Amino acid sequence: MAHGLGSIMVLVLALALTVAWAADHSPLQDFCVADINGQVRVNGFACKNPNGVQANDFYFSGMHMMGNTSNRLGSSVTPAFVFQIPGLNTLGISLARLDFAPWGLIPPHMHPRATEILTVLEGQIEVGFVTSNPDNRHISKVLNKGDVFVFPVNLVHYQRNVGNMNAVAMVALSSQNPGVVPIANVVFGSNPDISTDVLAKAFQVSDDIISDMQVKF
Ligand SMILES: *[C@@H]1O[C@H](CO)[C@@H](O)[C@H](O)[C@H]1NC(C)=O
Repeated sequence: MAHGLGSIMVLVLALALTVAWAADHSPLQDFCVADINGQVRVNGFACKNPNGVQANDFYFSGMHMMGNTSNRLGSSVTPAFVFQIPGLNTLGISLARLDFAPWGLIPPHMHPRATEILTVLEGQIEVGFVTSNPDNRHISKVLNKGDVFVFPVNLVHYQRNVGNMNAVAMVALSSQNPGVVPIANVVFGSNPDISTDVLAKAFQVSDDIISDMQVKF
């Protein structure tokens, strides 16, 4: 009997310890400023000696500066992730500025480690995300200055300037290192390529169309 109860308690404890958090783990100290060039491999970065930590480890400047949108997508992302702010290490949060030329696009992508919340500072931005199977529901909206929109973790989403002026947004992300998986690049631009016939069958188009896509990415 005692043995049975013990087993149940072990099971409950095991379940409690295997809960998968959608955001970064909680810090175990006030801060753990990333030792970005350190040799120790951990989940995230090892901590710098706290005695050597400076205000600049928690600081980034230049978010008022427009990004360079002279590219084929007409968009630009200025990140303030752990690589830019080492003090973000273990804190589960980061931010980025998005710039869009008129009709500029941030194409469909997902963040493997973060939910994203976006605030429009200037312009008019169409946003959308798609739910997982089986519904694949496309949830989208046109946002104006001051509007806020959330993209749940791991879902494919995009942002597009639908105005004839530049647009600007700030996004916050629930990871020090949200990561990005741009759908077109991972499918058509992987290194080495995924076999053309695999993609032709997957997308139900001819090999020629897939080859064209692979050349583009
Ligand atoms: C913006 O990016 C383009 C393409 O990379 C480059 O040719 C141009 O010099 C950049 N402009 C500025 C102001 O940095």
